[in-house]
Amino acid sequence: MANIRTLGEFIVEKQHDFPHASGELSSLLGSIKLAAKIVNREINKAGLVDITGAAGDQNIQGEDQQKLDVYANEKFKAALEARDQVCGIASEEEDNAVGFNKPLNLNAKYVVLMDPLDGSSNIDVNVSVGTIFSIYRRISPVGSPPTEEDFLQPGSQQVAAGYVIYGSSTMLVYTTGNGVHGFTYDPSLGSFCLSHENMTIPQDGVIYSINEGNYIRFPMGVKKYIKFCQEAVPEEKRPYTSRYIGSLVADFHRNLLKGGIYLYPSTASYPNGKLRLLYECNPMAFLIEQAGGKATDGFQRILDISPTELHQRVPFFVGSTNMVEKVEGFLREYP
Ligand code: AHG
Ligand code: MN
Ligand code: MN
Ligand code: MN
Repeated sequence: MANIRTLGEFIVEKQHDFPHASGELSSLLGSIKLAAKIVNREINKAGLVDITGAAGDQNIQGEDQQKLDVYANEKFKAALEARDQVCGIASEEEDNAVGFNKPLNLNAKYVVLMDPLDGSSNIDVNVSVGTIFSIYRRISPVGSPPTEEDFLQPGSQQVAAGYVIYGSSTMLVYTTGNGVHGFTYDPSLGSFCLSHENMTIPQDGVIYSINEGNYIRFPMGVKKYIKFCQEAVPEEKRPYTSRYIGSLVADFHRNLLKGGIYLYPSTASYPNGKLRLLYECNPMAFLIEQAGGKATDGFQRILDISPTELHQRVPFFVGSTNMVEKVEGFLREYP
């Protein structure tokens, strides 16, 4: 009992590690924690209440919004606005960035970008889903509404990022640039408790995660890499194991713990890949680098990309460093 450290306690303890030490970022993470608990409560009873299925609208990217996409978006937005540390948000589920108008929000230093509900096709079948968040300091002057340039910063400028996985247990994993830390939710206490301090990903792994149904339209370098994964070379632990859940958060989390690579290359339906640079790839790239792994679009570091649009997509290769470098080699050889 004496050894339990809650997320709230841990954040306060580590406050001096934050790049811009202040209680504001702690309070901001506190609002993410609160919204995560609310969304977790709803997801846990998803089969019992009328919260599964489509909401009836599409988001700006042409995806059918699920009721839980809309619900999670509203809860995170409301929690972030209420605590006064954020001047605006951008979300997969919002057409445009949203500025908060209260004077305290206008004076806030941070913007948050989020994928409120990741893996929404898995909600109705009781498979793990998640939330992904990414936090930047604003560039525009405090006291005014946030501007586009606040949201279109390269991922290398993130001050914090993380995800919540609503899985067999619910976890919150985050980084502020000083390692990656994981907290497991104890529903009886209503607290996220430190369970995985300083998470690191093995440099090599034996798991590859990709939607192989799209194989025929993958770039040649990716096809060659998949064949490499499938070859029998026992001294190199090949063939590798294929694991694909279809929720980025869940696939990423498994590979972070065990070692592995997640790939979402360009396909016929998604010429730039499917995943969103600002809401999915940048926060995961920050986390994986902090854990000792690597994230690229096949050719360059994800965190170095200067975004041009809010809902921009990018091919994504993330995980154990040696595995990511291997696929990069194939992509260079067979562009
Ligand atoms: P979201 O539910 O936030 O729209 O994200 C879905 C993403 C990601 O979670 C997942 O890894 C990927 O889409 C799966 O795509 P495919 O079904 O095309 O494999
Ligand atoms: Mn979606
Ligand atoms: Mn997503
Ligand atoms: Mn989503």
